[in-house]
Amino acid sequence: MRRLLFRLTQERVLSLWQRESRTTLAPGALRQLHSCSALVYRKHGHQYDTVRMEEMSLPALGQHSVRLRMLAAPVNPADINMLQGTYPILPVFPAVGGNEGVGEVVEVGRKVTSLRPGDWAIPWDAGFGTWRTEAVCEADDLLQVPKDIPLLGAATIGVNPCTAYRMLQDFVTLKPGATVIQNGSNSAVGQAVIQIAAALGVKTINVIRDRPNRQELEEELKSMGADFVITEEELQCLGLDNVIQELPKPILGLNCVGGRSGGLVLSSLCDGATLVTYGGMAKKPLQIPAKSLIFKNITLQGFWMTQWKRSNSKDVMQLQAMVTSVCDLVMSGQLQPPHCVQVPFHHYSQALQATVQAHQRKHVLLL
Ligand SMILES: NC(=O)c1ccc[n+]([C@@H]2O[C@H](COP(=O)([O-])OP(=O)(O)OC[C@H]3O[C@@H](n4cnc5c(N)ncnc54)[C@H](OP(=O)(O)O)[C@@H]3O)[C@@H](O)[C@H]2O)c1
Repeated sequence: MRRLLFRLTQERVLSLWQRESRTTLAPGALRQLHSCSALVYRKHGHQYDTVRMEEMSLPALGQHSVRLRMLAAPVNPADINMLQGTYPILPVFPAVGGNEGVGEVVEVGRKVTSLRPGDWAIPWDAGFGTWRTEAVCEADDLLQVPKDIPLLGAATIGVNPCTAYRMLQDFVTLKPGATVIQNGSNSAVGQAVIQIAAALGVKTINVIRDRPNRQELEEELKSMGADFVITEEELQCLGLDNVIQELPKPILGLNCVGGRSGGLVLSSLCDGATLVTYGGMAKKPLQIPAKSLIFKNITLQGFWMTQWKRSNSKDVMQLQAMVTSVCDLVMSGQLQPPHCVQVPFHHYSQALQATVQAHQRKHVLLL
């Protein structure tokens, strides 16, 4: 079912392009068609080696559609999983990579009222194929974002900060002074968790992997509002109680990594707490100590933003309200975009490669 939904989304953008080449056009009509450069893949591969930059013609603008000039699009771990064929939703080929990004509306169909030329918009669903210079899509596929937030903030707002926002809202009631512990704390999601929690008056304990520039990273996360930063190794050797006594034990754990790291977060929670798993960066099963379930009655849950959006897609207002709330945090200065490396579109290999390497910042393609 999920694959079907995904295919429908991709097809709304892509098959229009494919159909175009089969359609007989009136003389002169071709002059009005636009083309774009896109990162296309036609099969899954080990990492990202199947992606090529290609020229694509765009379909003509329909009454309900929008032509979007893409401005910036990040490379997220899920994009790589999709290229590899290991993500739970997969495209029909040929597929354009990229699930997230921001574009400027260039042209709208006669019946479009939700967007105007010049507006900034982001796709709300996965599978849009954002690694392209232009797209023609249904207006309903897009949500508006304000133009007065930073470009990198707009390009990266729809997935990671929204995930952080939902996970802090939907699982336990977090009163000011409560503690959240997370791993993968320097990830884009982790950075958003730190800042949104700080805005709520919630304390964060932030687990990272050890690295040569650990001190620098600790200072960076603390400047965002992190209360404590600790490495997986320190947490394993010392245990949370021996390192941090100033805070109440965490009532919510956010697990980006799985494996041993997820188990350490789980073991650090208070009785009756909840662990939400949203990523599996270690590619290893979550280690679950039996005592966490038997004696501490920890609840294990998962979260997937794509599923949340699709479950709420009948109410576009609700999707827009979430994005607007997160944009408001950006505009009020409480949420900064993740630390990013900006990459010109034609250097896309650099961005794809960095995303599969350790200790890299988020790479964002400038389109
Ligand atoms: N469920 C959802 O709805 C949802 C939504 C958004 C994101 N996610 C998931 O959340 C995770 C983070 O996404 P992001 O875009 O925020 O990531 P990101 O900014 O690209 O950062 C990647 C993070 O993963 C860590 N990492 C990489 N390889 C690792 C490994 N082998 N073991 C442990 N940690 C590793 C990195 O730590 P180092 O700096 O130490 O390398 C870094 O903290 C991904 O798994 C993504 O798919 C899920």
